[in-house]
Amino acid sequence: MLRTHQCGELRITDVNSEVVLCGWVQKVRDKGGMLWIDLRDRYGLIQLVFEEGIADKAVREVAQKVGREYVLQVKGEVKERFSKNDKIPTGDIEIFVKELEVLNVSKVPPFIIEDETDGGEDLRMKYRYLDLRRGIVRKNLELRHRMMQQTRLYLDAQEFIEVETPVLIKSTPEGARDFVVPSRINQGEFYALPQSPQTFKQLLMVSGFDRYFQIVKCFRDEDLRADRQPEFTQIDCEMSFITQEDILSTFEGLVKHLFEKVKGVTLGVFPRMQYADAMKLYGSDKPDVRFDMRFHELNGLAQGKGFAIFDQAELVVGIRVEGCAAYTRKQTDELTEYVKKPQIGAKGLIYVKYNMDGSLKSSVDKFYSEQDLQAWATQMEAKPGDLLLVLSGDTHHTRKALSELRLKLGTDLGLRRRDDFKPLWVLDFPLLEWDEESKRFHAMHHPFTSPKPEDMHLLDTDPASVRANAYDMVINGVEVGGGSIRIHDRATQQLMFTHLGFTQEEAKKQFGFLMEAFEYGAPPHGGIAFGFDRLCALFGGVDSIRDFIAFPKNNAGRDVMIDSPSNISQEQLKELGIALK
Ligand code: AMO
Repeated sequence: MLRTHQCGELRITDVNSEVVLCGWVQKVRDKGGMLWIDLRDRYGLIQLVFEEGIADKAVREVAQKVGREYVLQVKGEVKERFSKNDKIPTGDIEIFVKELEVLNVSKVPPFIIEDETDGGEDLRMKYRYLDLRRGIVRKNLELRHRMMQQTRLYLDAQEFIEVETPVLIKSTPEGARDFVVPSRINQGEFYALPQSPQTFKQLLMVSGFDRYFQIVKCFRDEDLRADRQPEFTQIDCEMSFITQEDILSTFEGLVKHLFEKVKGVTLGVFPRMQYADAMKLYGSDKPDVRFDMRFHELNGLAQGKGFAIFDQAELVVGIRVEGCAAYTRKQTDELTEYVKKPQIGAKGLIYVKYNMDGSLKSSVDKFYSEQDLQAWATQMEAKPGDLLLVLSGDTHHTRKALSELRLKLGTDLGLRRRDDFKPLWVLDFPLLEWDEESKRFHAMHHPFTSPKPEDMHLLDTDPASVRANAYDMVINGVEVGGGSIRIHDRATQQLMFTHLGFTQEEAKKQFGFLMEAFEYGAPPHGGIAFGFDRLCALFGGVDSIRDFIAFPKNNAGRDVMIDSPSNISQEQLKELGIALK
């Protein structure tokens, strides 16, 4: 070992001991007679001192020449500091350096490598290896590591077996777009990178593995957002001979275990909500239930009073914003502007102020008497002092827009605290979802999810109303995981493909291996996959999963550090049999 101790571990109890430390120069302060260097490693920061007359002259001369991010090895004695620094754990002590060796020099880094940095996002991504030296970024990866270890501990104790599934697989038409890899040996043919190990984990159940998990990279060629990366990690799990209830309790257990071990937070029983209720009450399949502000439908009260916009709407729906009746015109205008933004897409916003004196004032007073408005207020369980905000239009878009407004208000009013964790199971998702673009039904979760037996008879007559044995785990409005009970017989799987618009041949070509496997004694099974990066970001209290990935892609799907994707040579293309334009 080149060192006896880590930079972060020494304390006042180590005073007078001789130590050898290695690390990077964070800062040099040269005050003539006194010279200090802050030395950093993964474990922390320590102050080195070189005092004229005490430190060796030659050592001082070397110290005067070192710059930021030089790599040093120092030998010295631990001393109590005269003026202590209570901001760092080693702040009571410093090292009187006797020997100093420069293990490597460094160019001046392109940004300051401290928690507070002057480097913009792009620059930090280009030099991600330097960004990762910053304590704040390193801590995120340490959290990720702890989450990973605790996940393995929990699942191993429950007899889950970790099995690796292949990365070069086959492209399938469902879900997001695939990333594909050309095959040199089989020219003109392509592998696809897995969007998830879904079919493999089901095959492992057919093989009798009974309880499987894998912390696994998945790849999806979709548009990026703060909570989406083209390659991301799942905690992927599957179990045999279980009911939905078993899955919910096992994985509620996993998430509780993680919260307890990693964050010291104890969560109670996770509440459950039907998908249909989540949509009706919050306009979202992943409601943030840290705050209430539920939807109240007002069609019965608001229609038929001569206000054409409401009369023509499929849905009139509002939220009650507690204690905000005193909002100024400017504030209500801002909310109106917000909902009219193209991303939100509402045409306008109606408000009712339920004043403290009990009077009601609205932006549609022309059409509604105070008595009418009082009836709205009663329906919405409002009290004097509350502000009511109402949107109207077609059900889907109106709910979506009001959900966005609800979240914005939740944020503005400080109702979405990052240290408050409110988990929720959303159950009974629809099996199918109509896709306007392709004019056909798609599987809402994936084509292997089983319909609820009691809804099977609706498959032909009213496919959109068939519910699935599918569930999502939502925490603070983030979909952290989702899964389902699977189909495990060939006939039902074939029926599902037919409803998804596959011909028998297409289904056989794409998924024949799975349907055939179902003919060899497939056990009833089901599972779930968690977005591991999302869980980490949630635990770390930030929105962006990028901060928890060592080497993430930017918004354009690029790795700007290694400059990828990139062109490949003509020879490579030729070898792969890929025709050039
Ligand atoms: P699903 O597609 O819902 O299910 O994915 C499971 C979880 O993975 C996370 N996730 C993502 N995280 C980061 N970036 C992305 N691009 C991304 N896409 C998804 C989400 C999501 O809840 N095979 C099924 C699971 C199953 O049925 O068992 C599946 O992949 O947190």
